[in-house]
Amino acid sequence: MLFDDLMFKPGLMRGQRILVTGGGTGLGRVMAEAFLLLGSEVYICGRRGAVVEQTTAELMAQHGGKVVGLACDIRQPEAIAAMLDSIWDDGGPLTGLINNAAGNFVSRTEDLSPRAFDAIANIVFHGSFYVTLECGKRWLAAGRRGNVLSMVVTWVWNGSAFTVPSAMSKAGLNAMTQSLAVEWGGRGIRINAIAPGVFPTESAAARLDPTGAAKPGDDVPMRRVGQMSELANLAVYLMAPGSDYINGETIVIDGGLYPATGGNFAKLTSLTDEDWRRTRQLIDERNAA
Ligand code: HXC
Repeated sequence: MLFDDLMFKPGLMRGQRILVTGGGTGLGRVMAEAFLLLGSEVYICGRRGAVVEQTTAELMAQHGGKVVGLACDIRQPEAIAAMLDSIWDDGGPLTGLINNAAGNFVSRTEDLSPRAFDAIANIVFHGSFYVTLECGKRWLAAGRRGNVLSMVVTWVWNGSAFTVPSAMSKAGLNAMTQSLAVEWGGRGIRINAIAPGVFPTESAAARLDPTGAAKPGDDVPMRRVGQMSELANLAVYLMAPGSDYINGETIVIDGGLYPATGGNFAKLTSLTDEDWRRTRQLIDERNAA
């Protein structure tokens, strides 16, 4: 289905070997599928081995090609090194990395504990850096080219009330993108980011709009949410050899939401104490499921 809406020719990604963190579900899975369809070998990792394995089996049954699923918690540097060793042993170096794994939930900041902050920062801020560092070291040591793409959000520029750990962590990821583009760009490694607007996934909806009060798309000037194939097309473009001269960029794909509203959760200032109690309860139920 996705293939019909992809704008690239079959085989575009042949010879690529790409790791998608958090590739078992959501946007990560969509990007992994697009790379696979266009000829790339694909590795997906996630904390939950069973989810990653199921996605791997489904993608290969549907499309053939090579997908390898790996259970890995990117909060653990040793686990990342072991995973990359197994990938390098499996068929040679990666050519690309997608920093997609993330965590987020809406909460009043005064309701957060240090552990709540760390639950997000350890994945988004620390984990994304650990994977990038480990891939970068290997590429640099071997004099190989590499390509890194990180998923951020437009609130890297204006912050986001009620998702402060995510806002701080994604801003850090954006700073990493610009910094390493300069540091590693001359040695064959380029690094960019995508800032998506509303591309509904079950996981994000359960933690960012647990009461279902938001009407996704209403605030978007184009009056609709994003289509997964639109996001996949941008990711493919940035990971394909033809876009080699793009380095250090963060590209927004949000139908104009950011210039219209700031793209963040400022609206939630109107929630009552009871709204927040209910919100927390629903997120906890989802996390426990
Ligand atoms: C306040 C909360 C909370 C909430 C958890 N905590 N949920 N605090 N409000 N709603 C606190 C807990 O009380 C605990 O602190 C601490 O956080 C750790 O909680 P755990 O459940 O043990 O954490 P963990 O198992 O590591 O779960 C990680 C998670 C979870 C991030 C909290 O939601 C998760 O696994 N998420 C992955 C999927 C996901 O988040 N998808 C949405 C991504 S959307 P104490 O002190 O009590 O022990 C996204 C895109 C953003 O990132 C852009 C959208 C446009």
